[in-house]
Amino acid sequence: MLEELKEANEYIINKIKEKDELILELEEYAKENNIPIVTKEVAKYLEFMIKITNPKNILEVGTAIGYSGILMGRLIEKNGGILTTIEIDEERFNEAKKNFEKASLKNVKMILGDATAEIEKLNDKFDFIFIDASKGQYKKFFEDSYKMLNDGGIVFIDNIMFRGYLYKEYPKRFKTIVRKLDEFINYLYENYDFTLLPFGDGIGLIRCKKDTK
Ligand SMILES: C[S@@+](CC[C@H](N)C(=O)[O-])C[C@H]1O[C@@H](n2cnc3c(N)ncnc32)[C@H](O)[C@@H]1O
Repeated sequence: MLEELKEANEYIINKIKEKDELILELEEYAKENNIPIVTKEVAKYLEFMIKITNPKNILEVGTAIGYSGILMGRLIEKNGGILTTIEIDEERFNEAKKNFEKASLKNVKMILGDATAEIEKLNDKFDFIFIDASKGQYKKFFEDSYKMLNDGGIVFIDNIMFRGYLYKEYPKRFKTIVRKLDEFINYLYENYDFTLLPFGDGIGLIRCKKDTK
C-alpha cells in the first residue's frame, strides 16, 4: 500500500463489509499464513472494472490461494468465460485448487509453473489480463500476454508503484526491482494507451488498441 494514502485506503477498506463466507475465510487464511492477496479496495476496483468491461476470458498471473481468482471467475461464469490462472508455488497452487472447488467454479484453468515460461505456451485469446506476481518480471509478463489480448481488452497491473519506492527512499536491496518498475512505467506511457492510478499499491491500466500497439 502507498504509505501516503494509508489513511484514505483504510477509510475505504473499513467501508467494505464483506459478507461472503468463503471470501472472508480466504482473507483470514491469507492473513494468518502471510500470503499476499489483493487488498480489499483494489479487489473492489478489480471487480468494478470487470463489471464495466464485461470480459469473457481472463488471464491471471499470480494465483496465490485463488482469492482474486474466485472473485473474477464468479463474474465471468455467466458469460461462459474461462479464467486461466498461473501460479509458481505448488503449495499455493494446491490450496487454490481446493478453494476453486469450494467455490464450485468449473470455469478455471489452473497452471502450475513459472509465468515467464507458461504465458508463451498459451494459445488463447483474452479480454482481460490481471498481472499480480513477481514485480521484477512485470514487463515480460505484460509483453508475453498482451499479444493474446483482444482489441479493446484491458491489462490490470497491481502493485506497480511498489510501496512508493519509485519516488522515495527505499532499502538498497530493492534497487533492481525499483529501476525495472520505473523503466516499465516509462515504457508503458511511451508506447501504450496507459494510465497509472496511485491507489492501493499503485495500479496500472492498459487498453489494447490494435491500430497503434
Ligand atoms: C500477490 S500474490 C497473488 C495474489 C492473488 N492474485 C490474489 O489477489 O488473490 C503473487 C503470487 O504470484 C506468484 N508468483 C510469483 N512469481 C511468479 C511467476 N514467475 N510465475 C507464476 N507465479 C508467480 C507467487 O507465488 C504468489 O503466490
